[in-house]
Amino acid sequence: MTEQTPVNTATAAKAPTLPDAQTVTAVTHWTDRLFSFRVTRPASLRFRSGEFVMIGLMGDPHPETGKQKPLLRAYSIASPAWDEELEFYSIKVQDGPLTSKLQHIKVGDEIILRPKPVGTLVHDALLPGKRIWFFSTGTGFAPFASLLREPQTYEDYDEVIITHTCRDVAELEYSRKLIEDLQSDELMQELIGAENLAKIRYYPTTTREQSPKMGRITTLLKDGTVFKDLGIDGISADTDRAMVCGSMGLNTDIKEIMEGFGLEEGANSDPKHYVVEKAFVG
Ligand code: A2P
Repeated sequence: MTEQTPVNTATAAKAPTLPDAQTVTAVTHWTDRLFSFRVTRPASLRFRSGEFVMIGLMGDPHPETGKQKPLLRAYSIASPAWDEELEFYSIKVQDGPLTSKLQHIKVGDEIILRPKPVGTLVHDALLPGKRIWFFSTGTGFAPFASLLREPQTYEDYDEVIITHTCRDVAELEYSRKLIEDLQSDELMQELIGAENLAKIRYYPTTTREQSPKMGRITTLLKDGTVFKDLGIDGISADTDRAMVCGSMGLNTDIKEIMEGFGLEEGANSDPKHYVVEKAFVG
């Protein structure tokens, strides 16, 4: 009688071909400019919700030497720290060195993921407060997709205001659906609690297509529309904390507005009232 050799599924699985390879498990195309995808999570990777990692693909071979170098960019992790997989939300730039290729990834493909999470959009960088504002434009929503699914957000604050400004309505779909699913998902109800999820106030705005709320968030903050819409007196260093992630313009403009309200910029080593993700290129 011959003994059957048991098949070791771990070694039978496709061997990684890239350094720090992770396998794509899902891809969703939201518009011709936006897509999100999920990948396997390295067993050793620990991160704080809101942080980013470097991800990418192998670049084209060097014309003379034929050598290939990894092409990496900073990407906020859009999934929360407790998730088994990692999610990312990306723009597609047709002539962009990385995203022109990355936009074509399919389930089963591999990407490179350097398992060294860092970033300033973390709860540790803020002093305790009552209300947290998440200000985002475009794919700058990604770290907040993580933080909105993070139980600590609701332990730390009584109110969670997420603003998302995009050019048109279709570009708001990722955040709209994520927040809608969050409210109806059983796992989320169990993990975060329905009363905590009720703390979320979603404030989407568009700038180039008609929608219920038009205008840049910066304009709507400056003219007081946001406060009137939400029934809030204003922003103060006593009660309010903020995290900002979006275009360079948004980051600079919100920074100025926050400072105008008396809020000071914090860091991991020096927690204060607001933080800005500088590594983000949206
Ligand atoms: P706008 O259409 O007025 O430029 P993008 O798609 O170019 O990354 O922009 C995403 C969104 O961010 C757009 O709605 C854009 O508005 C908005 N935006 C760009 N710069 C700023 C800024 N400085 N403050 C607020 N919103 C901004």
